[in-house]
Amino acid sequence: MKRICMALLCAVMMIPMNAKTLVAYFSATGTTRAAAEKLAKQHDARLWEIEPTESYTAADLDWRNSQSRSSLEMNDPEERPTIKRCTDVTPYDTIYVGFPIWWGICPRIINSWLDNNEPQLQGKVMIPFATSGSSGIEEAEDYLRKTYPALNWKKGLLLNKR
Ligand SMILES: Cc1cc2nc3c(=O)[nH]c(=O)nc-3n(C[C@H](O)[C@H](O)[C@H](O)COP(=O)(O)O)c2cc1C
Repeated sequence: MKRICMALLCAVMMIPMNAKTLVAYFSATGTTRAAAEKLAKQHDARLWEIEPTESYTAADLDWRNSQSRSSLEMNDPEERPTIKRCTDVTPYDTIYVGFPIWWGICPRIINSWLDNNEPQLQGKVMIPFATSGSSGIEEAEDYLRKTYPALNWKKGLLLNKR
């Protein structure tokens, strides 16, 4: 009976019954979202979108403008854009964290999400993934390892379409 109730609850919430893997991602223009959806399907994982309180407009994303929101955020290592909803990461033991590469690394909203969840993320397997125009993920991986040394980072995945 308990199992049937759980199956029904999972079906209603669209959570795979054996979900122990979370794919959490931020995507400003949809490319990383598509990669995250594919990854979640492959791993029978729960999908979670990290959404900023204020969405990014095209002007916000203009990397040629040094005064655009993304430029200002990326120029300030302490910047932490606020997130719409908090995530309960406790049920998962493997967490994929996805983002578009911005100026070689992850957007600051990924720091916001990691800062919010850091104590609960300790001991879990953390796998970064990214999409980009052409950059690799290595600089972002190094940055994450250095900034969050208490987390168990594994090799990252660059999921650009070929
Ligand atoms: C502010 C900003 C900075 C970017 N910096 C880089 C970069 O350093 N290297 C790169 O290859 N692509 C860069 N890009 C391109 C994005 O990483 C790429 O288009 C990504 O796939 C977008 O993902 P999304 O649609 O999920 O937001 C940048 C894009 C923006 C908006």
